[in-house]
Amino acid sequence: MELSHGPGVYKYSHKSYSSQSDSWSSRVSLNSWAAPVVGAIFGLGRAGSIHLSNIIGNPRVILKYIVDDRSERFAELKDYWKLDNSVTFLTSKDSEKVYKDKSVNVVFIGSPTWTHEDIVVNSINNNKHVYCEKPIAENIEDTKKCYETAKAKGCTLFAAFNRRFDPAYSGLWQRVRNGDVGHVQILKVTARDSPLPSIPYLQTSGGVFHDCLVHDFDMACWVLGELPTRVQATAAALIPEVKEGIKQTPIFYSFPSRYRLAYKYELEHFLDVVMNGEPMKVTSWQTLAVSKIATAAEKSARTGQTVELDWTKDGIPAIYS
Ligand SMILES: NC(=O)c1ccc[n+]([C@@H]2O[C@H](COP(=O)([O-])OP(=O)(O)OC[C@H]3O[C@@H](n4cnc5c(N)ncnc54)[C@H](O)[C@@H]3O)[C@@H](O)[C@H]2O)c1
Repeated sequence: MELSHGPGVYKYSHKSYSSQSDSWSSRVSLNSWAAPVVGAIFGLGRAGSIHLSNIIGNPRVILKYIVDDRSERFAELKDYWKLDNSVTFLTSKDSEKVYKDKSVNVVFIGSPTWTHEDIVVNSINNNKHVYCEKPIAENIEDTKKCYETAKAKGCTLFAAFNRRFDPAYSGLWQRVRNGDVGHVQILKVTARDSPLPSIPYLQTSGGVFHDCLVHDFDMACWVLGELPTRVQATAAALIPEVKEGIKQTPIFYSFPSRYRLAYKYELEHFLDVVMNGEPMKVTSWQTLAVSKIATAAEKSARTGQTVELDWTKDGIPAIYS
């Protein structure tokens, strides 16, 4: 990615990519909300299980519903997570029960990406604050619709870019701002989604740019405080399993353990936004910008062409246009 200020001329501004927050998030918070929030979680797969373990261990959240479509796992999950009858298991065809339950004020979404928009919009239309796994929706237009709904209803919509909350990454962000690393000329980011996700997951994930690399696009912009002016991407499928079939491997050694603290701190941040009116660190325009970069990268990889990015019509703070 080529950044707007060019190499070696990094400028820090208090209006930077990393510090702008969505203005409506504090408007809706119940300042110093003393009682725990009451929550529901949609989707208990790879991401949802991590969120569930943090939710269960957090005294600021009372979990009331678990919604997942693999009902055959409900008894085993209830036993494994030592849940009592105060937690109701539902399949998605009964999601209305969650939406219509006025005692529920926060919804956590860890279901597949193609289900996000529907759950986000229904939750917010019923006055619930939402913590949604990235990406918020399958495309930029639907993502905008979700944020517009949140703004209209005065609800928080948090996109779970967990790496922002990882101590190593936030330490780097701080060192760049302190000038400890000098002028940043190149940022190299390496990411792996290991072990290999299942083929059915990959088929509905939205592709590597939108599903996986959005984290890296967000990291690059966040650490550098700039948006790219052009994107050049190349891609290849080098792993035979991607074409051949499903590989089942425990995920314990992968992102759940690497980002254990990030997921925990991310939940605390969401609760601080909802309960204490703290400004949200992952803003709507940042999420939309990352989605635009992912779309450009995918286009570049498919066409072999460099894709220019024009930010002038995106409503992004002036410093980046
Ligand atoms: N931030 C991260 O580190 C991270 C890591 C992995 C996945 N993700 C994101 O999390 C989301 C889920 O990915 P995953 O890997 O956990 O998927 P997964 O396939 O492992 O799990 C999805 C779960 O959702 C359930 N489900 C399906 N439709 C549903 C519906 N309508 N309502 C409720 N539950 C439903 C499925 O039964 C399954 O248990 C994706 O958007 C993905 O991009 C984020």
